[in-house]
Formats: sequence, C-alpha cells, structure tokens
Amino acid sequence: MHVLIIGGAGYIGSHVAREFLDQGHRVTVFDNLSSGRRENLFPEAAFVEGDIRVASDIERAFADSARYDGAVHLAALKAAGVSMTDPGSFATTNLSGTINVLNALVQHGVPRLVFSSSAAVYGEPKHVPMDETHPTEPENFYGYTKLEIEGLMAWYDRLKGLRFTALRYFNAAGYDVNGRITGLEKGVTNLVPVLMEVAAGLRDGVQVFGTDYDTPDGSCVRDYIHVNDLATAHVQSMDHMVTTDASHVFNVGTGSGASVLEMLATTRRVTGREVPATMVDRRPGDPSMVYASSEKIHAAFGWAPQNSDMSTILDSTWNAYQVHHGS
Ligand code: WQD
Repeated sequence: MHVLIIGGAGYIGSHVAREFLDQGHRVTVFDNLSSGRRENLFPEAAFVEGDIRVASDIERAFADSARYDGAVHLAALKAAGVSMTDPGSFATTNLSGTINVLNALVQHGVPRLVFSSSAAVYGEPKHVPMDETHPTEPENFYGYTKLEIEGLMAWYDRLKGLRFTALRYFNAAGYDVNGRITGLEKGVTNLVPVLMEVAAGLRDGVQVFGTDYDTPDGSCVRDYIHVNDLATAHVQSMDHMVTTDASHVFNVGTGSGASVLEMLATTRRVTGREVPATMVDRRPGDPSMVYASSEKIHAAFGWAPQNSDMSTILDSTWNAYQVHHGS
C-alpha cells in the first residue's frame, strides 16, 4: 500500500510511519513541522512540507498524480488545557484543517482513513473500564474537536464512501523500543516526559497533582499505552478496513491503569536517579481514574499491547532521553 501520513513527523506520527515502513508499505509524510521534527523523517519515506489549514498545501501531496491506498491523519493541536483558553486555534487547525484533509481525500479518491482520535471524547468517566459505548461528553474543547471530526467522517463515509477508523488513544507514552525515533517532544507537560526531564536533570522536580483521590494510593490512575503499540493499531486498522470495507471506532488502551506514584517509583528504579517530587493540590479537571476497555479492537483483529508495561514505557523513554537529548 502507499499510505499518506498527515502529521507523520510528530511524536505519534513518526512511530506510525516507522511501523508502516517496517511492514513493507510505501509512505509519504505530510507535516508542517510545527511540533513535528525533521529528525523524525525517514529516508525511505517521501516528505511533503505543508499545513492542513492551507488547502493548496495538501494538494501538493497529490502532485505528480500520486495515488494513495489509504491515509492516516494525526495532524492536530493536542494540549487540552490550552484548548480551553484558545479555542480558535483548535477550531482552525483541528476542525477546518481536517475538513481540508477530508475534501482532498475524497477528491483524489483515497478510499480509507485512520484517524487519531482520543479518550478525551468521553469526558469525565462514568464507569471504568471505559468502552466505546461510554457516553461522549468531552470536558475540554480539544476533546470536542476530536468528537466532531468523528461525526464529520461518518458523514463523509455515508455521502462519499470514505471509510474511516477512529482510534481513541488513551495516554500515549514511551519511545520506539528499538531507539529509531530521535526527535524528542518539546515543551512537554505530560507525566512521562516530565518525569524523564527531571531524571535527566532538565528540570528540578515533578509535582504530583493530588494524593487524596479515591484510588489505591491516592494519586490519579491512567491507562498508558506505548506508542509502538499505538503504531501497530494503525497499520492493523488499515488492513482491517481493506478486509471489511467498513468504518470503525476503537479504543486503544491497555485495559489497566497505573498511578502517578507508581510511575514515579518506577522512573526512579529504571533511571537510577533520585527524581525529586513534591505533593501538591489536584490539577483542576483531572478525573481520578481513567482506563480503557480495548476488547473491541482485540475482538476485531487481534490487536493487543506488546510494549505497554510500565517498565518498557519508562525504559524506552529514558533510553530516548539519554541518547537523543539535545539533538
Ligand atoms: C497524567 C497524570 C496528572 C503531570 C492528557 C490529555 C488527554 C490526552 C492525554 C490527548 C494525571 C498527573 C501530570 C505532572 C502529575 N491527550 N501529572 N504531574 O491529563 O491524563 O491526559 O494527555 O489526547 O486529552 O488531557 O495526561 O500526562 O497530563 O497526566 O501529577 O507534572 O499525571 O494529574 O493524573 P492526562 P497527563
């Protein structure tokens, strides 16, 4: 297959591009390099630099009569907190940009799309594990944009026959277990890279946001899914759409949770560093416990996480920080 990966130089997109290449597919990456990194481009993949907000940029991915058997769309703004103070940017990039993408795919006859959705479409958990039938009531504008795009894709499927698979990621974490992704994320706020920056001496300490939750150790529980496992879910979803000629919505998580304090303790063990931590108040808007049911994707085509145990997530991230920090 020839696959167009929109946002393929980013943190998750580069792992997805690597997996498609590993599985013998031909890859073209489209990215504006705003959060994507040039170091994350692979020589075997073609690269088109451009912005999804600019329809004529996307056209350049179709120059020279390029034809694609499928597309993966991961280009988006993702900082949920920022989406609450700057909804305009999120509406323009995530919504308008995606409409440009969908129109281009339909116009050029691309038959199928794997879309980077999020557990943020669910909002406050009403029950755990959260399956795909859990109510979708996003708590932040970021989650709203992802849910809205799922609705848009359903209409493009119905009206134009564009098949899609929306993958609702839980907490993406880790780096390629084979160390092939060299561009580290910048301006991080998520727990795992924050822990790594502390371990690496790039920041003084980590704040643990709340230790009085109704959880086993009082800190929040999340479902951390390794990016290599996310990447295989994309490739397998593309294959599955070829087989089923239908659209799908799947959670991608491990089905179990890890607490902030467990992640801290494991970081100390894996890195052998002190990792100073202070216990502070809860961060507004944080639910106590979030974890997925991923039974649906497992039943559909046998996807299961292979690298998402806490040690592998933290070890692979630590390796990336040690080898590539400063690059
Ligand atoms: C994880 C846990 C924090 C930082 C966010 C988005 C969500 C999704 C994934 C895209 C929480 C705690 C964190 C720190 C801490 N994004 N924490 N100290 O909030 O679960 O999800 O990223 O789809 O939409 O909201 O992830 O990594 O920020 O936090 O104690 O310095 O770590 O309170 O319990 P979150 P996170």
